[in-house]
Amino acid sequence: MAKTILVTGATGKVGRDVVRLLSERGAPIRVGVRDQAKAREQFGDDIVLVTFDFENEDSFASALDGVAKVFLLTPSRPNQVEVTNAFVDAAKRAGVCHIVKLSVIGIDDSPQFTFGEWHAANEQHIRESGLAFTFLRPNSFMQNFITFFSPRNGAIHLPWGSGKASFVDTRDIASVAAEVLMSDGHDEKIYTLTGPAALGIADVARILSEAVRREFKYVDVPESAARDAMLQVGMPTWAVDGLMELHAINKQNHWSAVTSDIERVTGSPATDFAQFARDHAERFRVG
Ligand SMILES: NC(=O)c1ccc[n+]([C@@H]2O[C@H](COP(=O)([O-])OP(=O)(O)OC[C@H]3O[C@@H](n4cnc5c(N)ncnc54)[C@H](OP(=O)(O)O)[C@@H]3O)[C@@H](O)[C@H]2O)c1
Repeated sequence: MAKTILVTGATGKVGRDVVRLLSERGAPIRVGVRDQAKAREQFGDDIVLVTFDFENEDSFASALDGVAKVFLLTPSRPNQVEVTNAFVDAAKRAGVCHIVKLSVIGIDDSPQFTFGEWHAANEQHIRESGLAFTFLRPNSFMQNFITFFSPRNGAIHLPWGSGKASFVDTRDIASVAAEVLMSDGHDEKIYTLTGPAALGIADVARILSEAVRREFKYVDVPESAARDAMLQVGMPTWAVDGLMELHAINKQNHWSAVTSDIERVTGSPATDFAQFARDHAERFRVG
C-alpha cells in the first residue's frame, strides 16, 4: 500500500517544520514546490521534491502519484476555494486516503470572515469527498510579529485596542501536523490550535522587550491608518480587506480562548510567547 506523504506549502512558515519533523522521523515524504532549485537550497539533497503549483492542475497528477496522505496548506488567494477544491478532487482520483488540512480558527462561529469562509468551503468540499480528513485550525501565528506586524522603530502598530488573542507558534502547528500524519486516530478530528495564554498587544510588547532587552511599545492605531499603511506598501485590496476583518475580530476578543489540543496531540505543552520571543530575539534586534 502507498505510504508516501505529500507536503504542500513546504517552504513557508508552517510547512518547513512539517518537512523537518517528518524527515527526522523517517517518513517517506515528497515535497511539492513551485521552484525546485530554490527548495533544494532550503532543504538540501535528501528530500524528494516534485514540481507542484496550485495554479496549474497539470502539476497535480505527478505530485499525487502513489501518495497516501497529504499535508494541505493553501496560500491565501482569492481563488483559494477553486484551486484547493480542484486539488482535493485530484487527490481522490489518485487514491489518496487522508488529507490533513491547515485551516483557521473561528470558522464555525460568528462573526464570519472572508479568509474563514474560504477555508470553510474547502473543509466542506473535503468532507463531501469522502476522504479521511483532519482539520487543523490555528489561531493567529506568533510569527506574524516577524512578518506582518513586525515592530517599526520599536513600536508595534495595530488597531487591536485592548483585544487579546491566544497566539500560536507555527512550530507547534507543524508538530501537530507531523504527529497526525504519522499516527492513527485522527480521522474526522478538528484541532483548534492556540498558544497557552491570551495576550493583548501591550503584553506582546512587554514580553518582547524582556526577551530582546530592547524596549517595544504598542501603538493602538485607528483602523483607517492600519488600512492606509497596508495599501501604501502595495498590498492588494482583497488582502487588506481580509486582514482588516481579522483585526476587528481580535479587537473584540473573539479568539482569546485557550485550548489544550496541541498538548493532547503532541504530548508537549504549547510554546509560550516568551519562549518564541527568546528563540527569535535576533529578528527583533533590528527595525
Ligand atoms: N498567518 C496567520 O496568523 C494564520 C492563522 C491561521 C491560519 N493561517 C493559514 O495559514 C496558511 C499560510 O501558512 P504559512 O503562513 O505557513 O504560509 P506562508 O509562509 O505564506 O507560505 C506559503 C507557502 O505556499 C507556497 N505557495 C504559494 N503559492 C503557491 C502555489 N501557487 N502553488 C503551490 N504552493 C504555493 C509557498 O511556496 P513558494 O516558496 O513557492 O512561495 C509557501 O511554501 C494560509 O492558509 C492561512 O489562511 C494563517
